[in-house]
Amino acid sequence: VSGVPGLVVAVLGTGRMGSAIARRLARLGYVLVLWNRTREKAEELASEVGARAVDRPFDAVQEAQAVVLALADDDALYSVLSGFHRLDGALVVNTGTITPQTARRAASFVEGLGGCYVESPIVGGPRAVEAGEATGIVAGRRVCLAQARSLLSDLFKRVVHVGEDPGAAAALKLSFNSLLISTVEALAEALALAEAYGVEKGLLGEVLEGTVFREVANKYLDRVTGPVGGGASFTLDLALKDLEYAARAAYHAGVPVPGVRGSEEAYAFAVREGLGKEDYTRVYRALKPRRA
Ligand SMILES: NC(=O)c1ccc[n+]([C@@H]2O[C@H](COP(=O)([O-])OP(=O)(O)OC[C@H]3O[C@@H](n4cnc5c(N)ncnc54)[C@H](OP(=O)(O)O)[C@@H]3O)[C@@H](O)[C@H]2O)c1
Repeated sequence: VSGVPGLVVAVLGTGRMGSAIARRLARLGYVLVLWNRTREKAEELASEVGARAVDRPFDAVQEAQAVVLALADDDALYSVLSGFHRLDGALVVNTGTITPQTARRAASFVEGLGGCYVESPIVGGPRAVEAGEATGIVAGRRVCLAQARSLLSDLFKRVVHVGEDPGAAAALKLSFNSLLISTVEALAEALALAEAYGVEKGLLGEVLEGTVFREVANKYLDRVTGPVGGGASFTLDLALKDLEYAARAAYHAGVPVPGVRGSEEAYAFAVREGLGKEDYTRVYRALKPRRA
């Protein structure tokens, strides 16, 4: 345990990832102040981890030396940051998956208030975060990275340093997620196609076993066909958001991404089918042929 016992950390956003971050930091001896838009969630988590929940983001920020943001998307980040009035040297670490453009704007906003900004999107779900097994993709000014070093090494098993541009860390996370989410969607499509001709899942698995797709099949083939309503570790609506952000980031950079666009279409359809709060792998449900 290399935690900095007694360091006060504000965790803003206590959804799946924010809760996992708070549980990990609490276990390492950090003192936590929690805020969430839906206050009850922060209160429940606060009593679980021995922390305190507050009414407004800035209430938490005023008490903390470091602020960890674990929010859904660009809009959530703007809405929370706009409540900050001054930062007095505090460290702000954003862990959510956002666009590169927003990451850069957030960094200059935080620095304008006298804070230090580190972009640190996460590879790995809530369970990996809680167990300290996740990877952080990190970028920020050198002085800010130095300030963040022990917090980041307590939070992550691996830290991938991308340099000083927070936009590059956000872009690398979108690059990884577009690959992962499109792959899961492609697997779901392949299964739906096979099944439409009476071929069972096990046979697709048998074919994939002898190929480079073996690990993907082992991890995702059963998961894509799993039940709905069973709880999600990463929701389908956030997967759609990531594909939209990847496509937007690519557009800004002049990179054509027709594959990402195709997957985005499938996820958008799944959300319209009411699957937005399901696990993102359940996109398969929206691709399955409907028999008359
Ligand atoms: N889950 C994963 O496996 C995973 C892995 C890597 C990265 N991520 C990324 O991490 C971030 C958080 O994901 P999550 O799975 O923790 O999502 P989540 O469980 O849905 O939590 C989202 C959080 O954002 C808050 N929020 C949403 N809109 C807001 C707004 N307009 N203003 C203020 N707060 C707002 C929510 O507050 P309420 O409780 O009030 O709704 C909640 O605290 C996302 O960017 C996601 O893409 C997730």
